[in-house]
Amino acid sequence: MSLTVAIDGPAAAGKGTIARAVAARYGFAHLDTGLLYRAVGLRTLRGEAAVAAAKSLTRADLADEASLRAPDVAQAASQAAALPEVRAALVDYQRAFARRLGGAVLDGRDIGTVICPDAEVKLFVTATDAVRAERRFRELSGKGHAVTLQDVALDLARRDARDAARVTAPMAPAADALQLDTSAMSIDEAIAAAALQVDRALARLPKRAAAEGR
Ligand code: CDP
Repeated sequence: MSLTVAIDGPAAAGKGTIARAVAARYGFAHLDTGLLYRAVGLRTLRGEAAVAAAKSLTRADLADEASLRAPDVAQAASQAAALPEVRAALVDYQRAFARRLGGAVLDGRDIGTVICPDAEVKLFVTATDAVRAERRFRELSGKGHAVTLQDVALDLARRDARDAARVTAPMAPAADALQLDTSAMSIDEAIAAAALQVDRALARLPKRAAAEGR
């Protein structure tokens, strides 16, 4: 069985929380594709060229999640992510992950549009700017980062604007994605809404396999 769940949306909308919960619930593998771009961003902050970093990324680059989650790394990631060659270097890995047997959840910005246009489930998760800034502020302060709510709001606004305006694989909902505004939802409600879509896709799988002669 292979089933791909694509979860896209702006920064701090709750994609990661939903993706992790869906993966755990169905036993699917999970890839936070933002970490790949953050790993490239971290290496650029250490002086390397973005394209060279993207082409030579290894598992070790993803190990230090605390460093990767820092706000300056997020900005560097967004800058690197606007470069077509950086994105191209990361496509094959993401697509192979998406089609692994047993199901996969990928969250990012272009999963439903570019990486996995045939994903069985596509969600575009949003929340208001204020809600997202508040959530990320609590998350970063909880981890000991010295940030203000204003800093965080500015960081998200700058990244969203850059991510949506870039020419290659801009952040955008796929035409067939379900848009999920989590502003007024609890985490459990958001997960339940996502799970409903997965249940429906799983119910369709046997019919699809039969139609394809599998
Ligand atoms: O966690 P948060 O939503 O703040 O960001 P992230 O998912 O870790 O992504 C960090 C940055 O990587 C984003 O601002 C994007 O510029 C870039 N990114 C991307 O371009 N494409 C993806 N599929 C995932 C992330």
